[in-house]
Amino acid sequence: MDIKTIEWKNNSIKIIDQTKLPAKLEYLYIRDLKALWNAIKELKVRGAPALGAAAALGIYLGIKDYKAKNLAGFNKELQKISRYIASSRPTARNLFWGLERMKNVAVKNQDKPVSAIKAMLFKEAQKVIKEDMLACRLMAGYGAKLIKNKDTILTICNAGILATIDYGTALGIIYKAKEEGKRLKVYASETRPLLQGARLTAWELKKNNIDVTLICDNMAATLMQQGKIDKVIAGADRIAANGDAANKIGTYNLAVLSSYHKVPFYIAAPASTFDLKIKSGRDIPIEERKAQEVTELFFKSPISAKGIKVFNPAFDVTPHNLITAIITDKGIIRPPYITNIAKQLKKNK
Ligand code: MRU
Repeated sequence: MDIKTIEWKNNSIKIIDQTKLPAKLEYLYIRDLKALWNAIKELKVRGAPALGAAAALGIYLGIKDYKAKNLAGFNKELQKISRYIASSRPTARNLFWGLERMKNVAVKNQDKPVSAIKAMLFKEAQKVIKEDMLACRLMAGYGAKLIKNKDTILTICNAGILATIDYGTALGIIYKAKEEGKRLKVYASETRPLLQGARLTAWELKKNNIDVTLICDNMAATLMQQGKIDKVIAGADRIAANGDAANKIGTYNLAVLSSYHKVPFYIAAPASTFDLKIKSGRDIPIEERKAQEVTELFFKSPISAKGIKVFNPAFDVTPHNLITAIITDKGIIRPPYITNIAKQLKKNK
């Protein structure tokens, strides 16, 4: 599918407005930071790697027209912009990684004039985008080796083109396996409350001629009981040093079900999703979102009693012992994660 989720175009950040899908493929040109912050918060742009790119481009967007009196003022403004973008969504490691990449460029080039640092920031944001495109393809190459002809794969949320720049993590593996000539079937879990599986994954896979079947989240157990699932592949928003992986709420359910039914459960994520400073999943910040997402069907019509109490965490953490392997752009990482993650991520640097 020849579409780009996010890119720099016409002096602005061009994104697909994912809240409009699948009804309309509509692009948005983001020209100021407030609009970017809202687009991230409202999930117009979403998915961990795409958020990394949004953060990197966002830094440039915020600083490009800033008239700095001196370097100190420039640095202060950069920090302010970074803090603002960081306050949009807390869970995806990639967002913070994107911000850090940009700030490091400024730190390392303090001997240069502000105009040169701005130009370097633009280059760095483009590099973040290119690296994600490459990472997805590398990941897909490693992951596709695990897929057998005629496999049926269950996935959740959207870890595809729409969550990255243009190929996907979990779904990239599916695209690659198909390109290799394997015949596959995919079940997409609708992913309540915001239906990324129904609205985005089903749309994306269908457009790419993948045999996809949509299910409600509570149908996964039945499918596994009937022996219809060979593998589960999900993305991740943040992976701790011990392999605990945060991903869209409901991923943990699938991991528990997979363990009970002896179905391999894989996480696919680039190195930029790992947070080795965080020892275990207990320390991963989990975003809680507004009640309306649960009480109203995609903000359109009420489906529950007015004023009802709601719990709406956007992510859950799958403990490492339920993860068969983590597929990354640096290769496939298997347990024991506590030693193998650090080793593997370092090895190919
Ligand atoms: O709330 P979202 O839609 O941003 O959540 C996204 C996910 O949970 C994805 O599975 C994850 O970011 C991995 S994307 C390659």
